[in-house]
Amino acid sequence: MSKQFPALKNDLLLRAARGEKTERAPVWIMRQAGRHLPEFMKLRESHGFFEICQTPSLACEVTLQPVRHYTGLLDAAIIFSDILVVPQAMGMHVIMQPGPHFTEPLNTPEDVKKLKAKVDVQEAMELRTVFEAITLTRTELAGEVPLIGFCGGPWTLFAYMIEGGGTRAWNKAKSWLFKYPEESKALLDQITTVCIDFLVAQAHAGAQLLQVFDTNAGELTPYDFYTFVFPSLQRIGKEVKERLKADGYDVPMTLFAKSANYAIAHCAENTVYDVLGLDWRIEGSEARTLVNGKTALQGNLDPDILYGGRDGIEAAVKRTAESFGDSGGWIANLGHGITPGVKPEDVEWFFQCVHKYSKR
Ligand code: CP3
Repeated sequence: MSKQFPALKNDLLLRAARGEKTERAPVWIMRQAGRHLPEFMKLRESHGFFEICQTPSLACEVTLQPVRHYTGLLDAAIIFSDILVVPQAMGMHVIMQPGPHFTEPLNTPEDVKKLKAKVDVQEAMELRTVFEAITLTRTELAGEVPLIGFCGGPWTLFAYMIEGGGTRAWNKAKSWLFKYPEESKALLDQITTVCIDFLVAQAHAGAQLLQVFDTNAGELTPYDFYTFVFPSLQRIGKEVKERLKADGYDVPMTLFAKSANYAIAHCAENTVYDVLGLDWRIEGSEARTLVNGKTALQGNLDPDILYGGRDGIEAAVKRTAESFGDSGGWIANLGHGITPGVKPEDVEWFFQCVHKYSKR
């Protein structure tokens, strides 16, 4: 039995995700809940990052902060959590200092044996608390906007698990693909299985759209992307959709394979994702041509435009809205997460500009 929630009052995001023409583009921003908001910084003074992730009432509070702060301007909430909860559930220890740090990264394929072979997502504390946070937040949202659930792309998670944190070049993770191709595929598959169970359970808990954040997708050659990364993304899309359909859920899915712009046409043609997320390295109009109406698109303003002043923001939004055109199926967003130094009043202006220039 699916859970009962208050009726949705603003379904712009869900309609645009299905490729429909909407009266204006829905808008939200990646990392909208977080360090650019003073109310988040205040809460962070007394709570650790993963403590917030693992405490449903706190995760709910932080998820709602931007929705309240930008009253009437946002068209989605995204559950406050992190992609690294999946490696945690697999048995790895991760701390924020202030970026993520794995105390024992995977050095060789031998280390994979230290991971839990099977993860029961309902048992794992790091994941179970996400489901509780989703159910609570969806109730608290009272239908104001839809709630997005997410997970990391398997390759991005694999890269963090091997490197032990963020790096510029991801040499160690990439060298695994070349040195240990079969073991790498097996580990990617192991991560993929957890991601699938995790996303399905998020939808059961109340998530109304699911996004896969494969932030490191663009670090590889097209050949390596198609060999190692695409199969895992494809499996997530296909199996999550099949399982949700069998349970009577119709939840759109977004794939954000950041900077893998050479793969846009292939992804649109060959996956079951409803929406493709774009970074800022491609024009909206070009992406429209590449997907040829097969998927909706999300993005793709340069996050640094939010430092560009009111006139700069307005000009960029106007130009981007024109580039995506008015055939529908556009979800306005940045091409990556918002950075901590942005002023909330500039974010508010960004939202107002999207409302104005995407009006049909
Ligand atoms: O989008 C949202 O508002 C929902 C919350 C969310 C966070 N992280 C909160 C967060 C989401 C969707 C993520 C995804 C995430 N986390 C990704 C994929 C997308 C992307 O931005 O590339 C990645 C690679 C991570 C891993 C991660 N978590 C990194 C690299 C960092 C440190 C760098 C940084 O930007 O701070 C984090 C920490 C993190 N995740 C913070 C927030 C609000 C800041 C930490 C803090 O408050 O101390």
